[in-house]
Amino acid sequence: MFSRWTLVTLLGLALSGAAKSSTGDSVLVVLDSISDKDNFSQFFNGLTDKGYDLTFRSPKDAKPTIIEDDVAQFSHVVLFSPDSKNYAQDITPQSLVTLLEKGSNLLVALPSKKQTIITSLAPEFSLILPPPGTPLVSHFPERDTPVTVVPVTPPSSNPILTPNTPPVWFSGVPFAYGNNPLLVPILNAPAESFAADSGSDSGADAVVEAADKGGEGLWAGSQMGLVAGFQALGGARATWVGGVELFSDEYAQKELPQGVKPGNTQFTSDVAAWTFQESLALRIDNVTHHLVGETGPRETYTINDNVVFTAHISKYNSGKSAWEPYSGITDMQLEFTMLDPHIRTSLPPATGNPGEYSVTFRVPDRHGVFKFIIDYKRKGWTHLQSSTVVPVVPPRHDGYPRFLSAAWPYYIGAISTSIGFVLFSTLWLAGDDREANKKFAKTTKTE
Ligand SMILES: *[C@@H]1O[C@H](CO)[C@@H](O)[C@H](O)[C@H]1NC(C)=O
Ligand SMILES: *[C@@H]1O[C@H](CO)[C@@H](O)[C@H](O)[C@H]1NC(C)=O
Repeated sequence: MFSRWTLVTLLGLALSGAAKSSTGDSVLVVLDSISDKDNFSQFFNGLTDKGYDLTFRSPKDAKPTIIEDDVAQFSHVVLFSPDSKNYAQDITPQSLVTLLEKGSNLLVALPSKKQTIITSLAPEFSLILPPPGTPLVSHFPERDTPVTVVPVTPPSSNPILTPNTPPVWFSGVPFAYGNNPLLVPILNAPAESFAADSGSDSGADAVVEAADKGGEGLWAGSQMGLVAGFQALGGARATWVGGVELFSDEYAQKELPQGVKPGNTQFTSDVAAWTFQESLALRIDNVTHHLVGETGPRETYTINDNVVFTAHISKYNSGKSAWEPYSGITDMQLEFTMLDPHIRTSLPPATGNPGEYSVTFRVPDRHGVFKFIIDYKRKGWTHLQSSTVVPVVPPRHDGYPRFLSAAWPYYIGAISTSIGFVLFSTLWLAGDDREANKKFAKTTKTE
């Protein structure tokens, strides 16, 4: 009996130790009221089943705090509290940004009716919100739900989402994207939808009115976002969702107009996996460089050397909770820069060695302090950045070839001058000698 218990405990420990995310498994969920927990039970149970450790809290609770002694207390924070206007002292727009800087991930549901700290945080992420109280409205397709409960087809080519996810039920506010390159659109509004002042069947006038009121132009069409990710420079991810109902059990079970199950369960699980850095997480394990024909790196390279640069890259596998070599990047580039890139070349995966990317190139005919730079940024994927400084020097005094064929005219010039000098000196000296003898002979005659 005892041994069986020990086994169960050990098994439990082993399972709970399996971190699902590449950055940790503690999650703080902030809900308007803790009893709302049951409205999202499928989503939360999905996270618990994956191995996440969920802590629930209401916005006004003082404990547990999100940051304590300057240390983030949770790896991930879920803010499903759209109706709360007041938050405890530790949840402010500044503290949420700090949290991202410290590497925690954020999943935030936007309020649809009120102005709260969340609506004032959104512009920091380059999201432009419509005036309060203008939810997404669509009259298509024909269905028996209110016009504000809209089925939206997820994009088929977004790497964050499972391909062919069925349409998802959405209700909430749309937003416009600012021009921040760190934004990652995940779900856009249907082309025939618009943001309108009221949920009632209002028609075109309401759209124009809302556009006038907002001063932002027309709030309509598929350029509006409903779910968007944001990847901070430090690698932390924040996802913004126009309405918390997307995650609810009710929507996960609500039949689509075609009479099939909606994609909400799959979609919300994909969105959480991306936000919590389970999916599309990459890292550079190490980079090395050496001369062709050598194995170790040199402290300096000489101009025109042939150099091999190699990087090892891994991708996180959440199924195994492990980093694995990844050779799937085909569009990575390497730059060899001194102020400007002197060389920019593709850095392709090396065949036969998983996770290895390698390129051989000739160092330019310039000396100075150069850097090998990898700067790989693709929407949705972790940004890969690496910089390795290496000095490039001119050849040493004895590093040049002894004879150059191009210099033969100079060699011939020098040799012919030397020969000419010797000839001339010989002739001169010899000639002078004869002259002196003649003179000497003359003088002896006259005397
Ligand atoms: C939670 O679900 C109950 C019953 O389905 C519903 O009455 C309630 O309004 C829901 N609460 C929220 C916040 O959606
Ligand atoms: C670089 O990383 C790869 C993959 O993790 C590993 O196999 C290799 O030994 C590492 N090389 C060095 C020099 O650390």
